[in-house]
Amino acid sequence: MPIYHTLGSIPHKRHTQFRKPDGSLYAEELVSTEGFSSLYSLVYHAYPPTIVKELGEPYSVEPKIAREKHLKHTSLIGFNIAPADDYLQSRKPVLVNSDLHISLAAPRLSMTDYFYKNSQADEVIFVHVGSGTLKTGFGKIRFQYGDYLVIPRGTIYQMEFDTTDNRLFIVESFSPIRTPKRYRNQYGQLMEHAPYCERDIKRPTDLETHNEKGNFKILIKKQGLIYPYIYGTHPFDFIGWDGFHYPWAFSIHDFEPITGRVHQPPPVHQTFEGHNFVICSFVPRKFDYHPLSIPAPYNHSNVDSDEVLYYVDGDFMSRKSVVKGQITLHPGGIPHGPAPGSVEKSIGKEFTEELAVMIDPFRPLMLTEDALKIEDENYYKSWIM
Ligand SMILES: [Fe+2]
Repeated sequence: MPIYHTLGSIPHKRHTQFRKPDGSLYAEELVSTEGFSSLYSLVYHAYPPTIVKELGEPYSVEPKIAREKHLKHTSLIGFNIAPADDYLQSRKPVLVNSDLHISLAAPRLSMTDYFYKNSQADEVIFVHVGSGTLKTGFGKIRFQYGDYLVIPRGTIYQMEFDTTDNRLFIVESFSPIRTPKRYRNQYGQLMEHAPYCERDIKRPTDLETHNEKGNFKILIKKQGLIYPYIYGTHPFDFIGWDGFHYPWAFSIHDFEPITGRVHQPPPVHQTFEGHNFVICSFVPRKFDYHPLSIPAPYNHSNVDSDEVLYYVDGDFMSRKSVVKGQITLHPGGIPHGPAPGSVEKSIGKEFTEELAVMIDPFRPLMLTEDALKIEDENYYKSWIM
C-alpha cells in the first residue's frame, strides 16, 4: 500500500541497536511480498519470529475441481454455502485459476485458539454480512458491512467477529493486490481522477504488544496445504513497525462512482488490480443523462476474460431476479448482456441502488465441487425471451 505508516516504537535509524528496558535487543524483521524490490516494512519484535517448537502434519485444502473446462453462463447461489463454526473450515473455494481463488465463507466463531497465515496469496476479504476486528501484529482494523480487507501474504492474523452471522467473499491473489496503476502518479499518490484516495484507506491502529512466550499455533497455508506450526512466542509481539507493507481496508461505500452522459464502460468501476485480473465495485449512482441514453449495459463479447459478478445489495437493473450473495460467471468466448426486458425498463431511470463486486480474470475460471452444489443449473437459459 503506497502510504507510509508507523505504529509503536522504532529506532531512530534502521538496522541499528534497539534495546529493551532490560538491555537486550529487539528483533528486527523485514516483511515484503516481492523480495527486496517492492513495498516493505521493518518490524521490531520482542522475540525473534523464528522460534519453532513443533511441526504438525500438513493437510490439504486444495480446491477440488469439478468442472475444469466449460463454456456455460453459470450462476451460484452464494448464501446457500452452509455456515461453519471455524473460520478456515468455513472458507469454500468456488471459482479458481492459477492467478486467483474465489471463496465464499460463512464463519460463525472468532479465531481464538490459533492464528492464520496465508503464505501463498494476498487476500481480499469483502465483508458482506457481519462486523468485527482484524487482529494482526501491525495493529487492529475494525471491519463492517462493505469493507474490503486487503491482507498481504505472510501477514499473521485472527478474525474476531461481533456476532455469529457473517458472510464473506474472499479473493486469494497469487500476485500482490494493488490500487490501479492508472490512478497513481509517478510518486504513488492516488490522483484527482481516482474514485477514492488515501483518506479512504483504513490503516491498522491500536498496536498492542503481546510480549508472551508459550505455545502459539499458527496455521500456515502454502501450495494448497495447511502446515500447523507451534511457535514459542506470540506472533503479535511487535513493539513497533514502519513502512508501506501492512494490512489495510477500504469500504465499497467510499467508492465514488464515475458517471457520464452515456453508459460508462466497466473499467470506471475498477478498484484493485492483481496480475491477470481486476476487482471492480458497482455502487449506487446517478444514471446516464443524455436525453436518449440507455442506462442498461450493452451486450458484449468478452473473448479475452471471464466475468464474475457478486451481487451485494440493491436492485440490479441488468438482471431480472437476483438475490444477495448470488454469483454470475460469464465465461470468455460467448457474449452476454442484460436480461430480456431490462434494456427498455432502464430507459428514463435516473438512479440505481445496485451494489456489487465484479472480478474480471484474464484466464478461465474452473468450478469446484462446492460451486456445483450451489449452482442454479438453468441460468444459462435466462436470456430466452
Ligand atoms: Fe459484462
